[in-house]
Amino acid sequence: MTAAPAGKRPATLTRDLRDIAATNELGAAVARQLGAGDIVALYGELGAGKTTLARALIAELGYAGEVPSPTFTLVQYYDLSPVAVWHIDLYRIDDPNEIIELGFEETLAEAISLIEWPERMGSLLPANRLDIVLSYAGADDSRRAELTGHGSWRDRLAEAGDGF
Ligand SMILES: Nc1ncnc2c1ncn2[C@@H]1O[C@H](COP(=O)(O)OP(=O)(O)OP(=O)(O)O)[C@@H](O)[C@H]1O
Ligand SMILES: [Mg+2]
Repeated sequence: MTAAPAGKRPATLTRDLRDIAATNELGAAVARQLGAGDIVALYGELGAGKTTLARALIAELGYAGEVPSPTFTLVQYYDLSPVAVWHIDLYRIDDPNEIIELGFEETLAEAISLIEWPERMGSLLPANRLDIVLSYAGADDSRRAELTGHGSWRDRLAEAGDGF
């Protein structure tokens, strides 16, 4: 059997996150790969660790302050250098059309977007993105992360993967 062409390599990676420190490390490693226009979709049930991972990403991207969960504000904007960050939580969105009113869509290309409950976006969810699915993995502080690259992220994940 010949090797699959680069663009068709399986682009899913699994990481065991045995404690919050491991989650923070993953967040920092992923953050170092991010630039303007990147979208990270954070999936997982309540308490799976999406916000915890987002906090680690935002810290590595240059924000030293406290990062509130956007569960109630829906969006938080971090005006960071060189690239700003949108932290979005769509849990309370019932209809994808409500997302248009949030007004972050038009600046997606200029910022990094971290989106909790991305499934709420339906077909508005951009196709070019890194998915991270978090799940409970037994012990209280243990989680599992499954990373899947879509679009250009297929190759980017395969290249960056060892560092994650
Ligand atoms: N390995 C771990 N990684 C991430 N969080 C962990 C881990 N172990 C324990 N936790 C705890 O699990 C909780 C995760 O909460 P968090 O708010 O990050 O979840 P969430 O997925 O954003 O939930 P929600 O859907 O309500 O927004 C926190 O209290 C955190 O301290
Ligand atoms: Mg959350």
